[in-house]
Amino acid sequence: MSAESLLMSVVRVEHVSKDYLLGDQKVQALKDITLSFEAGVFLAIAGPSGSGKTTLLNLIGCIDVPTSGKIYINDVDVSGKTPDELADLRNRAIGFIFQTFNLLPVLSAAENVEYPLLRRKDLSSRERRKRVDYFLDIVGLSRFAKHRPNQLSGGQRQRVAIARALAIRPSIVLADEPTANLDHATGEEILALMQRINRFFNTTFIFSTHDERVIAKANRLVRVEDGQISLLGIRAENKRRRPGQREGEARAAATLRQK
Ligand SMILES: Nc1ncnc2c1ncn2[C@@H]1O[C@H](COP(=O)(O)OP(=O)(O)OP(=O)(O)O)[C@@H](O)[C@H]1O
Ligand SMILES: [Mg+2]
Repeated sequence: MSAESLLMSVVRVEHVSKDYLLGDQKVQALKDITLSFEAGVFLAIAGPSGSGKTTLLNLIGCIDVPTSGKIYINDVDVSGKTPDELADLRNRAIGFIFQTFNLLPVLSAAENVEYPLLRRKDLSSRERRKRVDYFLDIVGLSRFAKHRPNQLSGGQRQRVAIARALAIRPSIVLADEPTANLDHATGEEILALMQRINRFFNTTFIFSTHDERVIAKANRLVRVEDGQISLLGIRAENKRRRPGQREGEARAAATLRQK
């Protein structure tokens, strides 16, 4: 790995282990994991059930803390941070997408997307509404803004979850088996949407999956087995030139809407 990409890592995991205590039994969920990724990767974490995928995502997402080792997000060591500081970091840098969507059932699609923004005291209500409209548009759900989750299909719910994850303008989106509860065609659609967002905004995506078809779409692959890395893969691709931020966003919205 070049010095430059090391300097610019969006996520760095150094000698991380995670033990869970179950009664008096210790489960070693992760054993001495070291990884580093540069911004903009579309990364799959693959491995059998119980291999440690969710544990690794939760540590990267600062939802949980390692038993030993260090995690760096955007080159900042997160181990010394207080719970409040971690919540703030999550709210600014990390978007989450879950297998079961985790939308709040009493809120509309628009309110679900707005929800993580309410903690952001630096955003006016006008700016919040602008973001909600913008990201609902990107995931193709403007017409469904007022629908509650139970009035939406699984694929639509996952689109709301994607819009919610993007609304904070995160540098990293973490997705734990985002397509596992969707039929194959809808899963493909959701993945293609994630891929377009990854390319247009250069947002880093890290997702876990069992599905070889999903793995095939990734440009980075980490296979975990029994809490250890069994394989690291890189796929070269002709990355598009990244357009200027504003110009890119306008074009991204237009292009993403086409789907
Ligand atoms: N809160 C917990 N308490 C105790 N053990 C846990 C806990 N969470 C996970 N584990 C254990 O840690 C190991 C890794 O679990 P993890 O959920 O990370 O696996 P996974 O790869 O995400 O599996 P799946 O594909 O089934 O979601 C497993 O042996 C699991 O039983
Ligand atoms: Mg899991």
